[in-house]
Amino acid sequence: TIYFIDGQFTERDGLKISIDDRGYYFGDGVYEVIKVYGGKLYTAKEHINRLFQSASKIKIAIPYEETQFMEIANELISTNKILDGHIYIQVTRGSSPRTHHFPQPAVTPVVSAYAVSNPRPVAAIENGVSVKTVEDVRWLRCDIKSLNLLGNVLAKQEAHEAGCTEALLHRNGLVMEGSSSNMFGVKNGKVYTHPVTNLILNGITRQVVLALCKDLGISVDEKPFTLDEAFEMDEFFLTSTTSEITPITSIDGSKVGSGQPGPLTVKLQKAFALQIP
Ligand code: PDD
Repeated sequence: TIYFIDGQFTERDGLKISIDDRGYYFGDGVYEVIKVYGGKLYTAKEHINRLFQSASKIKIAIPYEETQFMEIANELISTNKILDGHIYIQVTRGSSPRTHHFPQPAVTPVVSAYAVSNPRPVAAIENGVSVKTVEDVRWLRCDIKSLNLLGNVLAKQEAHEAGCTEALLHRNGLVMEGSSSNMFGVKNGKVYTHPVTNLILNGITRQVVLALCKDLGISVDEKPFTLDEAFEMDEFFLTSTTSEITPITSIDGSKVGSGQPGPLTVKLQKAFALQIP
């Protein structure tokens, strides 16, 4: 497998990461996951734009252009012969002896990337998954795709220990998102999801789904809904780069609707499948 780090492509043995990397000390960096279908990147520009936005929100100046990331990603796909899988890109503030404040003078950010093969999660997409409700104790800048994922990790683990695939995060009684996905409810033919604020990550798949709803004439309300309302939804689904549109068939062990993927969810999945490469 060929990896990319610090401007170079290298075998795993050639990877050198400093113990002083601020990603390692502080989670001081940002990342993206981009899906690859049949050897082709999907919504790569949107992901790379969000990488630049996340970096700028934490005052990291990425020493690359968008086109260079596209070239790196395509090179990783071809040298590693990836068909279905994803690209992971990470940028940390750089390597410098441990002090909380930014290094002075500034150091060069460390950019790394790799590609992995992994098939589409067909079973989950067809049959649906279960989720566990977990209180959202993350910070107030969830709009940044930061490497600091401890809140997300603990929430996912809690769900996992309960035999669930994902955590349904709630804050002050309102549904936010998943630990690594966005959450949608369907009631009386209308789609509900949390609006874009500092409290959620504006998922690229979320944006694709909202565009598909528009194309299909499905009405959407980007308005927070309560955890109580979540249990009353006719359908529920989550979205993410790797999970695409995955139906949620139970919340805390109680069935959503009939307990089967709902018709509107299936309609959106079909529309989604038509526009991937
Ligand atoms: N997770 N919300 C959170 C907290 C996420 O971590 C993610 C993505 C999403 C969905 O975003 P998108 O549709 O752009 O993938 C929402 C990635 C896949 C991960 O951490 O692996």
